[in-house]
Amino acid sequence: MVAAPEASHLGQGAGSGETVLRASGVGRAFRGLQALADYELDLQRGEVLGVIGPNGAGKTTLFNVITGFLPPTSGRIEFRGKDITGMAPDRVAKLGIARTFQNIRLFSRMTVLDNVKTAQQLHARAGFWETVASAPGFLRKERQLEERAMAHLAELGLAGFHAVFASALPYGFQRKLEIARALATEPQVLLLDEPAAGMNAQETTELTDFIRAIHHRFGLTVVVVEHDMSLIMRLCERIQVLNYGRTIAAGTPAAIRANPKVIEAYLGTDETEVGSRDAGDGRREAGDEPRAVEEISHDAIA
Ligand SMILES: Nc1ncnc2c1ncn2[C@@H]1O[C@H](COP(=O)(O)OP(=O)(O)OP(=O)(O)O)[C@@H](O)[C@H]1O
Ligand SMILES: [Mg+2]
Repeated sequence: MVAAPEASHLGQGAGSGETVLRASGVGRAFRGLQALADYELDLQRGEVLGVIGPNGAGKTTLFNVITGFLPPTSGRIEFRGKDITGMAPDRVAKLGIARTFQNIRLFSRMTVLDNVKTAQQLHARAGFWETVASAPGFLRKERQLEERAMAHLAELGLAGFHAVFASALPYGFQRKLEIARALATEPQVLLLDEPAAGMNAQETTELTDFIRAIHHRFGLTVVVVEHDMSLIMRLCERIQVLNYGRTIAAGTPAAIRANPKVIEAYLGTDETEVGSRDAGDGRREAGDEPRAVEEISHDAIA
């Protein structure tokens, strides 16, 4: 399993000077509703950026427009200098941006191993004629794919579950498997949408260590959306705050915590403390818990 690195790694990408993802004036409207407006991003290689904000602030919409699940209605998005505005999700994934979903999306009736194999195939899908013409070659590739998937699971501490159906995994491991699937596409940028949703305090701490470890191990640039402030404050060097689609603050965790606009945005939603959306026992309220495994279609991998 990947080892948690020293905390000092968090400085690794800060100020690397290389922009991997840039957004300029990005917006998304749904009929009359401006879900995201004038969004700006200059994401540096290696950094961990947190995006927070009350429910409905536009955080998931932001991930959807970056990854091609929704075209933006204004603005431009560049990945390593290439215009990816409105590009289809599979092309964005192939270029090197992977994401996870607020509601877990796994192939629930497939094993853990097969879930990872399907994600790996993003870069290595054999065509129909290649399969027909070269059965031995195809079988060899299948074996290689399986070995790589097993090695990937072992590295992430999931090998013991390789033969288990995704739907039978304990909840915390379903969340990890979703991240493992995203990593299997060999991304440079990983977008995590509420990875700790529905977890208790101990599970959240473990997940925070896991994200820190993969950030280090895979040399990733990470954007994480979360309501859990303990995770955000421990992981992120920089935080953006959205409210009603607009960026109302950006800065270091300490600056964000003390920002009156941020406090007001959360107080306006009956929160007593920035990010305190948990029920008293550390779990989010029942209605908020996205515990069900959502089935994904075969053409919507990663
Ligand atoms: N496909 C859609 N069609 C219409 N409205 C949408 C759609 N997706 C999002 N919205 C609306 O856009 C706004 C932003 O939603 P979004 O899901 O991005 O918020 P969020 O910050 O992720 O919230 P949460 O913390 O609850 O996940 C909300 O008012 C939402 O109802
Ligand atoms: Mg959301």
